[in-house]
Amino acid sequence: MARTRPGRSCPRHYRYSPAVFARAADLEAQSLYIVGGLYGNAFALEAVLAMARREGATLVFNGDFNWFNVDPAEFEGVNETVLQHAALRGNVETEIAGEDSGAGCGCAYPEWVGDAEVERSNEILERLREAARGFPDLRARLGGLPMHLVAEVGILRVGIVHGDAESLAGWQFSQEALRERPGRAQALLDGAAIDVFACTHTCLPVMQEFVGPRGAALIVNNGAAGMPNFRDTRFGLATRIANAPSTRALYGTRLGKWVVEAVPVRYDHEAWMARFDRVWPAGSPASLSYRERIASGPGYEVEQAVRTGAPAGALSRTA
Ligand SMILES: [Fe+2]
Repeated sequence: MARTRPGRSCPRHYRYSPAVFARAADLEAQSLYIVGGLYGNAFALEAVLAMARREGATLVFNGDFNWFNVDPAEFEGVNETVLQHAALRGNVETEIAGEDSGAGCGCAYPEWVGDAEVERSNEILERLREAARGFPDLRARLGGLPMHLVAEVGILRVGIVHGDAESLAGWQFSQEALRERPGRAQALLDGAAIDVFACTHTCLPVMQEFVGPRGAALIVNNGAAGMPNFRDTRFGLATRIANAPSTRALYGTRLGKWVVEAVPVRYDHEAWMARFDRVWPAGSPASLSYRERIASGPGYEVEQAVRTGAPAGALSRTA
């Protein structure tokens, strides 16, 4: 049955209710960077740390900060650094924190992702879990991370998730689902006292306007911080929420006095490619699934990601 095949399923313990977000904030920040999908890219990690440091911003890593870092020293380095900040576990951290649960990579891949790719993700996860076994303490800390956080930036209530508002590996906040069935995302927003949902997991970015229970609302998916997100580009993306725009943002919008932006994570591309090729040579599962994207981005354009049309909302493209 398709529902139980590794990499296709969404385990029961991944699920939560949108009502969990109606709670006091877990953290408050003047300026917040939400970094999802670092995928073990230590160069992108350096870049986001530098960005946050420059403006004294708070960092939240919303999962899948591990993936390509199967080298033990890189596994340890990425996790020791990330865990100094607020973090959620993604499906990757959840699955490597324990032994094989039958969920494979836990990605809950939808039908438009092919079987070969799902199989390769399961193989990458197995190698990463092997690296994690050398670090039982880190493994326990990863398993103990939360699945969601509520942040306050001014009066904005920000729900930080890995997948969507009801599952750690949910795809309702993917650019595909937000385009084809926005009613599902709207229903999730209606069930949560949240102005901005910041998510990742589905690997392509999107920023889409809604009207939530508290007024104007936004779902913002940063795609990947550690991989390119647009055709012919070589930078990752992070979500920034603050009370003033960044000069570095690629696109963004306003919610009242606050800005929500997609900011490029400009890492050392050549160094990262060299390291990736050393760990994942031609023919390896990660090379087959990801090398082309890492080298030159996916077939996706900025115009497809930005769904914040109304000029009346003072929605400013900031770069
Ligand atoms: Fe994920």
